Amino acid sequence: MEFGHVPVLYREVLEGLDIKSGGVYIDGTLGGAGHASGICERLGSEGWLIGIDRDSDAIEAAGKRLEGFGCRKTLVQSNYSEVKLVKDELGVSRVDGALLDLGVSSFQLDNPQRGFSYMHDAPLDMRMDARDALTAEDIINGYSREDLAKIISEYGEERWAARIAQFIEKERAKKRITSTFELVDIIKAAIPAQARREGPHPAKRTFQAIRIEVNGELEKLEAAVSDFIDILSPGGRLAVISFHSLEDRIVKNVIAKRLDPCTCPPEFPVCVCGKKPDIKKITKKPVTAGGKELSENPRARSAKLRIVEKL
Ligand SMILES: C[S@@+](CC[C@H](N)C(=O)[O-])C[C@H]1O[C@@H](n2cnc3c(N)ncnc32)[C@H](O)[C@@H]1O
Repeated sequence: MEFGHVPVLYREVLEGLDIKSGGVYIDGTLGGAGHASGICERLGSEGWLIGIDRDSDAIEAAGKRLEGFGCRKTLVQSNYSEVKLVKDELGVSRVDGALLDLGVSSFQLDNPQRGFSYMHDAPLDMRMDARDALTAEDIINGYSREDLAKIISEYGEERWAARIAQFIEKERAKKRITSTFELVDIIKAAIPAQARREGPHPAKRTFQAIRIEVNGELEKLEAAVSDFIDILSPGGRLAVISFHSLEDRIVKNVIAKRLDPCTCPPEFPVCVCGKKPDIKKITKKPVTAGGKELSENPRARSAKLRIVEKL
């Protein structure tokens, strides 16, 4: 299968990272190396690209894509939350920039076997890393109705979460739910017809929620963004692209804390805790896609890019 993923905010990421020829860059969400190939090109033969992805298919596709590019490359199948370990194991002494382009790739969504998409009938899997134990099927059949409702409500921001969880509970009592289309039918039955006709595909929010739970996408994000900032050398930049408000809020909060780490009570006239900012913002506001990109790549619609520089 072709890795048909179009990188989002490509020019904005590459310009914003201000790539230093000969530098060391880490792409924590390598995917099909769309952004990474641009980084590699700018790094030149003296530069080093370290690509991390938890999906072995992505590592393989990225390896092929990067073959024609001259920088030094090291691709690692790992979680980006392990970035400090990866950096230490590789003996990296400085990091000039890093990228996190969060979420799933079109390659994962469009692969009928992976179970990420409500558009293809497939086993309920949704694991980015096939070595992980927990699948979407385990969650749908094993979590309590209350937990399902909570996840679908919080991670999917789905107003019909309680009804969807109730319908899942009723159906799985008859028969184990094993395929994406079975789940889609249950979601459709749970959402009233009028609401189903409005907005995106009725299963979109629930599928997003289950995917986030399967892959623990939000659990480690806060610590990971902080770790990526920690490992940057002075002047090094981190670019983060988020695709929904939950991710963006976490990224925004980490950045806000690093910009204003002071823990003194607000009534103190001067800071006594001594904690100083260690980053500055490069993007004053999150960067979003322009009209041309939106017309060519619908995935860009919800993308928000934030870039910071280490002091
Ligand atoms: C949006 S795609 C990145 C696309 C890439 N920038 C490109 O241009 O081809 C996100 C990628 O990050 C990977 N990913 C998501 N969460 C991850 C995590 N916690 N650790 C490592 N990789 C992760 C996914 O497997 C997916 O390949």
